[in-house]
Amino acid sequence: MIFFLDTANLDELREAASWGVVSGVTTNPSLVAREGKVDFGSHIRAVTEIVDGPVSVEVLSMETGPMIEEARSLVPISPNVVIKIPMTPAGMGAVKVLSSEGVAVNVTLIFTPQQALLAAAAGAAYVSPFVGRLDDIGEDGVGVVGDIAQVFSMQDIGTKVLAASIRHPAHVVQCALAGADVATVPFKVLKQLFHHPLTDKGIEKFLADWEGYNKNHGR
Ligand code: G3P
Repeated sequence: MIFFLDTANLDELREAASWGVVSGVTTNPSLVAREGKVDFGSHIRAVTEIVDGPVSVEVLSMETGPMIEEARSLVPISPNVVIKIPMTPAGMGAVKVLSSEGVAVNVTLIFTPQQALLAAAAGAAYVSPFVGRLDDIGEDGVGVVGDIAQVFSMQDIGTKVLAASIRHPAHVVQCALAGADVATVPFKVLKQLFHHPLTDKGIEKFLADWEGYNKNHGR
């Protein structure tokens, strides 16, 4: 399982990219809106310049034709752009056309394996099940990721399972065990993944021991 960063914040992206573990980015209208007044196209271009790998950009139109037109206007921003389309009948119509043109599409707002199968049938490159939002309503988000991964594997479907709405480090491990291909994680969760008190304690001890050795040997 690889990591994408779920953000539209350039500072977070620069920092996370420097850690060498981020293979792509997912954005959505809520995340872009959090960045205040930005020129949308330039902002997305800046994102694609920071991180090598797929950058999901969501369309805002709700009808098939306008979604396709919007996607076609976003694709030239960078070869890394992946078009994010919501799971609706109109959306799947757009996925069919765009995927046949060679455009990679991430179908978002997936909450069931049935929706994931529909997205795959339309030609999606990725499906994004929302783990945390399922947990929020008392359902089993990780279970849905596992069911989708299992069905895709049994049916030999090449669409990637991109676990989204990841809220904490345990979700990351659970999604990996469930067979997700990608976890898109918020910056805060990515930072949490690095930390363990014994790692910090171990570093402190190594450095203190080395300092002691140098003192004892007059260095
Ligand atoms: O990229 C969409 C997704 O990750 C949203 O997460 O926390 O708003 O449910 P959240």
